[in-house]
Amino acid sequence: MHYTEGMLKEGALKDKTIVITGGGTGLGKSMSKYFLQLGANVVITSRKQEILEKTADELMKETSGQVLALACDIRNYLEVEKMLAAGVAKFGKVDVLINNAAGNFISPTERLSLRAFDTIVDIVLKGSYNCTLAFGKHWIKEQQKNNAILSIVTTYAWTGSAYVVPSACAKAGVLALTRSLAVEWAKYGIRSNAIAPGPFPTKGAWDRLVPGEFREKFNLEKQVPLRRVGEHQELCNLAAYLISDYSAYVNGEVVTIDGGEWLQGAGEFNMFEEVTQPQWDVIEKMVRKAKSE
Ligand code: HXC
Ligand code: NAP
Repeated sequence: MHYTEGMLKEGALKDKTIVITGGGTGLGKSMSKYFLQLGANVVITSRKQEILEKTADELMKETSGQVLALACDIRNYLEVEKMLAAGVAKFGKVDVLINNAAGNFISPTERLSLRAFDTIVDIVLKGSYNCTLAFGKHWIKEQQKNNAILSIVTTYAWTGSAYVVPSACAKAGVLALTRSLAVEWAKYGIRSNAIAPGPFPTKGAWDRLVPGEFREKFNLEKQVPLRRVGEHQELCNLAAYLISDYSAYVNGEVVTIDGGEWLQGAGEFNMFEEVTQPQWDVIEKMVRKAKSE
């Protein structure tokens, strides 16, 4: 048994149709592959049809599952409705929405144009609520039960982060959407959960967030108490669980999977991590002495 292996039973997602925004690349592609291996049908969607088709072909060959590749800019509600209708037409129903698509890049906030700020917030927040609203309305109208929405956020949805401010604002909104609808839509049989990943290497994220020499300089592994980045399969296992019927009682949760990264940044005295054992001997003596003074 190892964390790079699939965790759920064979057939755990059988008879489910799962729509994954941003499913042509990165973590979306990895999740798509694992869901197919577990027996699901998958709809992958993003703006670039060519990339989607290439991914769909590759995944169908690798897994023998069914993949529908649909171009859709999730910022546009009408395109989202069309994408949903095409998924239903192909597979008869859809059961799960994964809000995974995102836009992001590293930049001092004062260097951003208004359009740049809008672009990130529109992809991440508007894109997620467009999909959530369209899918939720559909499920409620059809009285279809046992549905799940899973949104991929980040740990800076609650801590905030310098240099990715539009993304932080938007992810915070997606987390609020998740927790709010977990209560409001539970009565319709719709569960809402989120995953907050730490660093999981993907081309999309790495090229935009730690480009060139900064990848070495700001070694992300050093920020993680477990001293490594995430393996895609670890996130896929968690995502598969959260959309499967095994997690039927999990609703409104955000599960962090970051090797302890955000807490390392948060704890007041975490800088003492650097202290050696001999230094601790000295520190202990000094602190004990404080009692007698
Ligand atoms: C300043 C920039 C910029 C930069 C773009 N802009 N890059 N401004 N610094 N580096 C500005 C543009 O000049 C323009 O404003 C506006 O942003 C929109 O840019 P476009 O290129 O016209 O937009 P678009 O083609 O829609 O592309 C969107 C994008 C692009 C976000 C800029 O990078 C993209 O397609 N990204 C999708 C994939 C992605 O981002 N993946 C990473 C997710 S990682 P003006 O005013 O000039 O018109 C992630 C991880 C989080 O979220 C946590 C990690 C631990
Ligand atoms: P990625 O490969 O760049 O994925 C982002 C996807 O979003 C792309 O497939 C992109 O495709 C799609 N997209 C962007 N704008 C869109 C739009 N308007 N409409 C539809 N699709 C759009 O990056 P990733 O690292 O796998 O990120 C996946 C998710 O994980 C994101 O939500 C990200 O915030 C989150 N996350 C990642 C990490 C990490 O370390 N990798 C950490 C924390 C959170 P097109 O460009 O073709 O549209």
